[in-house]
Amino acid sequence: MVAAVQPRATRWAGFGTSIFTEMTDLARKLDAVNLAQGFPDFHGPAELLAAVARHVETSHHQYAPGTGEPRLRRAVARFVGATTGVTPDADAEVTITSGATEAIFAAINAFVNPGDRVVVFEPAYDSYAQAIANAGGVLVPIRLHAPDTAAGRAAGGWAIAWDEVDAARDAGFRLLLLNTPHNPTGKVFTEAELTRLGDAAIAADAIVVTDEVYETLVYDDARHVSPAAMPALRDRVVRISSASKTFGFTGFKVGWVTAPPALTASVRLVHQAIVFSTPPFLQTAIAEVLEDDAWLAGYLAGHRRDYQAKRDLLRGALIAAGFDVPVVTGTYFLMARFAADVTDVAYARELIETRKVAAIPPSVFYARPPGALPWLRFAFCKRDETLTRAAALLA
Ligand SMILES: Cc1ncc(COP(=O)(O)O)c(C=O)c1O
Repeated sequence: MVAAVQPRATRWAGFGTSIFTEMTDLARKLDAVNLAQGFPDFHGPAELLAAVARHVETSHHQYAPGTGEPRLRRAVARFVGATTGVTPDADAEVTITSGATEAIFAAINAFVNPGDRVVVFEPAYDSYAQAIANAGGVLVPIRLHAPDTAAGRAAGGWAIAWDEVDAARDAGFRLLLLNTPHNPTGKVFTEAELTRLGDAAIAADAIVVTDEVYETLVYDDARHVSPAAMPALRDRVVRISSASKTFGFTGFKVGWVTAPPALTASVRLVHQAIVFSTPPFLQTAIAEVLEDDAWLAGYLAGHRRDYQAKRDLLRGALIAAGFDVPVVTGTYFLMARFAADVTDVAYARELIETRKVAAIPPSVFYARPPGALPWLRFAFCKRDETLTRAAALLA
């Protein structure tokens, strides 16, 4: 008898098709409004689309340099300098990747040895666990207490479990993976929080990888602080961002990593093994819009204003439908608390089947799901008509 072939390596055993794909497929099948997956249902700026069309005509269309097109590396260095206050060196400290997802995978696999502990705040963006598992690392989850818990209420929002941070520091860890503004909670980590987390990373002599893809989407009086700009942390921070959220074309998949030269060299080694390079015409088109300071400033201000209005529109609709919805000051997600005594997965299914609105049950963002999690994540990166249609369906 021939033994059945093992279809999967053991380090991938715990993973399946992502909940985003599942919910998006179900939304399509049931003709539901898809507020589950975080992609806009409208185009990003026409200027970028026009630049892409121009560069399709003129690009060399052969492999770009593995580290990225020099023009985009220079534009990213200036953009990072303008937004954080610290300008990386375009040649030694900037690497262009195929989206932040690839950057995360490359960074984790560049620094983590089998058995190394990697600290992650949960709920956590789902690709982190996969990258850590692939490297053989051990995921050390730190809880963000929900706003409806005693700790959350005391902190006025999603609250870091500092006792778990202290325990992780005492046990030691190799890498801290920090996402601010944070998906799915919308939390924008404060400078005081980042300083305290930085102290733990220094005490553990760990590398800090920051996922800042929502850096331009902060609202009200919130301010995004990049750990890369904090003097005590500069030599250990690997900063990741991308064009996906900032320009609203998530399909372009152009991201970047900025880090001190020695850390950059390690990320580049893994990046070289994963994709080697990223389409050159997309890189130069993005460089072109980043270079136009006056246009960029106007675009980013409008982008933020539009998204803040979308946040308010969806939040009002969810509150009217009976959810409890804390205000978020970052990202394009709202976490909404429901009153029914069922699991978040069951409630998400019920909502999509009976109301034709798709959301994400956040228990999928946990390595250690809490007992009860009466929350759903809704994306507001949608046309106003889409949000209004969702409001009518939920009412
Ligand atoms: C926290 C976070 N990081 C990374 C990504 C992926 O970014 P990219 O599209 O650049 O791969 C996402 C997309 O949803 C995200 O929410």
